[in-house]
Amino acid sequence: MDVDVFTLFPHWFDWFRTQRHVANVLALGHTFKTVDYRATTPLKAGKVDDVPFGGGAGMVLRIDVVEAALRARYGEDPVSVRDRRRVIALTPGGRLLDETLAAELADEPALTLLCGRYEGFDERIVEHFCSDAVSIGRYVLAGGELAAMVVCDTVLRKLHGALGDEESAVEESFSAALEGAPEYPHYTRPAEWRGWSVPEVLLSGHHERIRQWRLERARQRGAGGGGPPLP
Ligand code: ADE
Repeated sequence: MDVDVFTLFPHWFDWFRTQRHVANVLALGHTFKTVDYRATTPLKAGKVDDVPFGGGAGMVLRIDVVEAALRARYGEDPVSVRDRRRVIALTPGGRLLDETLAAELADEPALTLLCGRYEGFDERIVEHFCSDAVSIGRYVLAGGELAAMVVCDTVLRKLHGALGDEESAVEESFSAALEGAPEYPHYTRPAEWRGWSVPEVLLSGHHERIRQWRLERARQRGAGGGGPPLP
């Protein structure tokens, strides 16, 4: 997969690249690049934003700035980029990110993520250049960078070779293996701590009983029983 993130803060992603699952997929040949809107802005003094028409607080990322950055990166009119790769605007009002969307994006050969800042994007950017608008939750961040990292984190960990143990992405929260439910609880050593013991079935070595117990606990959590463990 080839991922491009357009941002005003490319260095924020230096840390992200060092995360193990990200580093793993980069070592396998996938790419993760950042593009700085300011590097190609047609405006003076690195300007990228402007006041909203109609008044109101904050600044809006300009369409000419985003167009210049997309053109410089892809060498074509940005209206046609979305025909061959998903171009995603990160915005609080977009489609809510969930496992279904993450799995859909993990199947794509290439993604472009556009981070907004301040009050967000000129709406024409979303309308004419983007295939998707994605939100990581119904709250407002200062910009799309953290949202882009969240999207990339959950998408990249699904790629083959991202995780140490290939099984760990199969039977996890919201997966088909767990009927879309949150994951069952995990326990590790010590088997007893301050009188708090691990459910006996997990120590039984009985794989079928363990499988049944886990599925049952996942179903309970999915039904709203996500609190402390039941006996
Ligand atoms: N930009 C600002 N807030 C956001 C959110 N909640 N999701 C995606 N992008 C954003």
